[in-house]
Amino acid sequence: MTKTVGLIVGSLRKNSFTRAVAEQMAAQLPDGFTVKPIDISKLDLYNQDLDDENRAPQSWTDFRNEMKNVDAVIFATPEYNRSVPGALKNALDVGSRPYGESIWDQKPAIILSVSPGAISGFGANHHLRQSLVFLNMPTIQQPELYIGNVTNILDDNLKITNEGTLKFLGGAMQTFAEFINKLA
Ligand code: FNR
Repeated sequence: MTKTVGLIVGSLRKNSFTRAVAEQMAAQLPDGFTVKPIDISKLDLYNQDLDDENRAPQSWTDFRNEMKNVDAVIFATPEYNRSVPGALKNALDVGSRPYGESIWDQKPAIILSVSPGAISGFGANHHLRQSLVFLNMPTIQQPELYIGNVTNILDDNLKITNEGTLKFLGGAMQTFAEFINKLA
């Protein structure tokens, strides 16, 4: 049966480098996998009172329901101030509650960080990794996916021009597919 891999991108920017790289990476998943882009831009900010008082905003309910049909997750993040963007952290928080009903629990994950800078979003990558440990998401350890100096490998249409990078990302998708199948 076909498995669904959710693609969550931490940047809300229209011409996001992170989304461009992530989409070209995810497109290399092997047969038997479909990619589902998950929009986190409309999620209301997490406030526990709303869950406690049974008045969760529709945006939370829709997101939680959508994620229930996802078998695994690709997280692609830029780095904001050496961490993940607030929008991505908010999505993690919304999905993790109400207590005991986390939509993340046991879902396989892989992390990609992208930056125009040389440090490749290392801080964001590892802050995200720390959250996924707590959320009990089995996460690919190797290969680690850090794409730095990203503007050097994208053309004006945000297509990856570097064959080696494309191949590396494709290999990661093969590893991720095997990982998902093993855990299923
Ligand atoms: C950044 N940027 C950035 N880059 C980086 O490598 N480390 C960082 O800590 C930060 N901090 C940061 C904070 C904020 C608020 C913004 C808006 C940007 C630069 C960032 O990498 C750049 O804007 C990327 O283009 C963002 O990724 P997308 O939107 O192209 O995917």
